[in-house]
This record gives sequence, structure tokens and C-alpha cells, in this order.
Amino acid sequence: MERTLSIVKPDGTEKNVIGEVLGRFEKNGINVIALKMVKLTKEDAEGFYAVHRERPFFGSLTDFMSRGPIVVMALEGENAIAKVREIMGATNPEEAAEGTIRKDFASNIEENTVHGSDSPESAEYEINYFFNALELNGAS
Ligand code: CMP
Repeated sequence: MERTLSIVKPDGTEKNVIGEVLGRFEKNGINVIALKMVKLTKEDAEGFYAVHRERPFFGSLTDFMSRGPIVVMALEGENAIAKVREIMGATNPEEAAEGTIRKDFASNIEENTVHGSDSPESAEYEINYFFNALELNGAS
């Protein structure tokens, strides 16, 4: 069993695809163990994406992530990190495989609808960024 964090980003909530994203995870055997809608401040977004602070797109990314509500969810399942990333598709929707969330809904490489942790270490940091132990209703 593995845990990961996913986010329906501001463009996803604007496009009304919260249920669509959740449904694709659930249909693939991924369990939702915590869920909430929040609106990040610019500082919140900077903290969440701290590993990217030297990247040229950091300012634009954190503006985008704080422009409207997001849905954050902790997920659990066998190989959940890799499985969620497969269901999401490549970061750049132009490179995303058919049938993936980003292929179907993302606008561009930044407004790419959904986030998923890329390693066990980032999953732990990201889950703890949004949820406390009492809010995580997992089996593991
Ligand atoms: P995510 O998987 O949440 O991780 C970092 C985010 O930065 C990524 O999705 C995109 O939203 C954004 N991102 C990554 N690469 C670029 C890029 N080259 N230009 C703009 N935004 C990017």
C-alpha cells in the first residue's frame, strides 16, 4: 500500500471536472482517504511548490495555483504514486497519452488540471502539508 497526494488545480475546478478526476482514480482502484477544497494564498502555493523555487516558472505557477479554489486529496492504493501519474498523463498535455486526465482536460503545461506526488518523499511532505493524522482515513 502506498499513499500519494493529488490536487484538482484551479483550472480543473473552473472546468467543472472535480468529479471526473476523482472518478478516474476510483475506477482504477485508488482509494480517497482525505479530501477538501481550499483556496491557497500565494505564500501557501510557494510553500507547497518549494522544491521548484529556482525554476523560471515558479512565480507564474504560484500565481496560478492561488487564483481560485483547488481540491486536495490524499489517495491510497497499490503503487498509488506511479498509478496516479499514469492516470494523469505527462505534465505537458501535448505529450500526454490518449485517455489521460491531462490529455482530456489540460490547457497547457502550467494549467494542467491535476497534480500528483512524484516520489514517496514528496508524497509525505505534500500529504502533511494539507492533512493532519486525524484526517487520514487510510488502511495503512
Ligand atoms: P505539477 O505536476 O503540479 O508540478 C509542477 C508544476 O509546474 C507542473 O505540474 C506544472 O503545473 C508546472 N510546470 C512544469 N513545467 C512547467 C513549464 N515548463 N512551464 C510552466 N509550468 C510548468
